[in-house]
Amino acid sequence: MTKPSSSSSTQVKTVIVPAAGMGTRFLPATKTVPKELLPVVDTPGIELIAEEAAQLGATRLAIITAPKKQEVLAHFDSFPELEELLGARGKEEQLAKVRRASQLPAPVAVEQEKPLGLGHAVGLAEAVLDDDEDVVAVMLPDDLVLPTGVVEKMVEVRNELGGSVLCAFDVPQEDVYNYGVFDIEEADYNGEYRVKKVRGMVEKPDAESAPSTFVATGRYLLDRAIFDALKRITPGAGGELQLTDAVALLIEEGHPVHILVHEGKRHDLGNPGGYIPAVVDFGLAHPTYGPHLKKVLREIIEEHGA
Ligand code: G1P
Repeated sequence: MTKPSSSSSTQVKTVIVPAAGMGTRFLPATKTVPKELLPVVDTPGIELIAEEAAQLGATRLAIITAPKKQEVLAHFDSFPELEELLGARGKEEQLAKVRRASQLPAPVAVEQEKPLGLGHAVGLAEAVLDDDEDVVAVMLPDDLVLPTGVVEKMVEVRNELGGSVLCAFDVPQEDVYNYGVFDIEEADYNGEYRVKKVRGMVEKPDAESAPSTFVATGRYLLDRAIFDALKRITPGAGGELQLTDAVALLIEEGHPVHILVHEGKRHDLGNPGGYIPAVVDFGLAHPTYGPHLKKVLREIIEEHGA
């Protein structure tokens, strides 16, 4: 694969948001509420992702949903009666909150009939792309990567090095078994970010056999070639079609893949152990709730014997 000329510029139109999971780690709440609608303070995780996509300049959100998860899409509808009521009562702040989601990149539902894996989910989104889209972003709604804006940086790296760029965190070795793990080497890159070249990638390896402690964390900038690779993989870890295996296949075939090691923090909204700290973090930063929360958290910690 040739490097793009320095004048080529990546414009992401579509952000793929896989949201078809059953949310089993969040039962019983997820019996009736999709986990993507659970609020981080007052805003569902999926809306935070849509805001991140809007910030990137994307115009379409391809939301992969399961047959019984239509509520996720409904969140992006407009709510005329509610808006009228709030307007008539002069509740401008609440009105803006109701309207916000409908002003974000247009969501398109892509139904995944069976839970065949992240690779399968992402592959389905090809059907909604325009012919001129040579790159897509994937944002996993379980992962909040902060501060936002990491995909913009990954776009800069693709403009320089071509191919695909994935977001990585360096995690403790005992945690790698939860992730897609990168086999890396030094990149031919002198820019301002921490960038490495990927030699290979393996999904959820044992800690002992993992090639590094750099792991994939929820943000991918993928060349359109990924869709062809996704059609050629077979079930991998957990018996599922893995996005990781399609990335590994691209690398084998000479497609450049790099990671941008994010210098920031991350919350995993996919389970209560990661969701609770996210709510506390956003709560403490909130102008209305922050000061009180700080005070009561101190009391609670004291009570629990810090
Ligand atoms: C998925 C990916 C994995 C990645 C992780 C990031 O796994 O398959 O490669 O590291 O997201 O959160 P999941 O968490 O869906 O099991």
